Amino acid sequence: ISDAIMVKAVEIPEETVTYEGSQVWRVLADNDQGEFVSYLQETGEVSKWVGTESVIDVLVRPDMIPRVSRFLRERQIKYDVMIPDLQQAIDQENPLPSPEELEELQGRKGHKMEWSSYHRLDDIHGYLDYLAVTYPSICSVMSIGNSFEGRPLKVLRISKGQPNVPSIWIDGGIHAREWVSPAAVTYIIDNLVENSDDLKADYYILPVVNPDGYEYTFRGDRLWRKNRSSPEKGGVCIGVDLNRNFGYKWGGLGTSKQPCREIYTGTSPFSEPETAAIKNFFDATAGNFSAYLTFHSYGQYILYPWGYDKRVPPDYAELEEVGRASAASMKSATGDHSIYTVGNSATTLYAASGGADDWAKAMLKIKYAYTIELRDRGRHGFILPAKYIIPTAQEALAAVNTVTMASLKNY
Ligand code: ARG
Ligand code: ZN
Repeated sequence: ISDAIMVKAVEIPEETVTYEGSQVWRVLADNDQGEFVSYLQETGEVSKWVGTESVIDVLVRPDMIPRVSRFLRERQIKYDVMIPDLQQAIDQENPLPSPEELEELQGRKGHKMEWSSYHRLDDIHGYLDYLAVTYPSICSVMSIGNSFEGRPLKVLRISKGQPNVPSIWIDGGIHAREWVSPAAVTYIIDNLVENSDDLKADYYILPVVNPDGYEYTFRGDRLWRKNRSSPEKGGVCIGVDLNRNFGYKWGGLGTSKQPCREIYTGTSPFSEPETAAIKNFFDATAGNFSAYLTFHSYGQYILYPWGYDKRVPPDYAELEEVGRASAASMKSATGDHSIYTVGNSATTLYAASGGADDWAKAMLKIKYAYTIELRDRGRHGFILPAKYIIPTAQEALAAVNTVTMASLKNY
């Protein structure tokens, strides 16, 4: 089919979810945690953002505020209001550059990325294409498949074609609402390309694993997490948690078979086009991968396997060591001296099976498999104001460089 007869789908205006009057609370649950979590699940109007065993951040809808606060007070469970008006936070998160500023930038640089605002998918993909055209000797773009709604899954390969160097996989945006992740990953790309004299490995980088979800966070619901796949027959709820859909220990702890839940596994391992595309890429590639870095937000954690259970792989001491070296480099990457906590996923955060990191470690045998939860530690959560993109991305870059060094030593 030629381009000429392709008709652009008519965009049906979607209802945009508002968070007016919603709040985010940090609940210090300690002993009563179990009870509180089951209460949350019953009241669909309160939803968990993130949490460890004793500290849980939850979104509370306006009509639920009195009920939930009474519940907590009765049990003497302490909580802090982290975000008093979520919609206001959302409205202030991403001040866009003016069209004139953008045009000026594009004229000067050839692309629209400026890392002082969060960009739409088109800008990110346009940037990757720009790099492939501008630096053809080191950059190439390939689409490894299409998302559920048909968007390309664009991977940038950065390589000088050196023989016998390790390959490193980097991805971002598997969870739609974690905006700082694709922003940081594109910043990493910029730095690797600008300093290509220092390239010591081959990089394969997928900045937006979940493009449908990512776009939906701009148009429909800023806090969407899953992909946008259709409900099963007779169902109503959309989307699968892509980080519960990988094929190792699929469906275990920390997952749900209920399509309406945020941690829904999907119908089978790799049921989703986005995860299947990653699997197919690795099935077909000849690259010798020594690191698999997947960027999320928030909480400031460097997590290594396993996530499916509170166990560790045989070489965990090395993962811990390189994790700590990464945390140290992240701390000194900016004047903010950010603290990143290192540990295995299930112990440090919570058990969650079917994650990309566990699959990369167990099935692909990639040594340095890490999930990195970027900024912040809860002050803004997912709604991290755009002015923090650059410092956060500098930390992410420091981690990439540290893991690259370790990969070279072990290669
Ligand atoms: N926040 C991430 C998630 O919930 C953490 C994943 C860590 N890895 C894991 N295999 N559990 O998906
Ligand atoms: Zn995430």
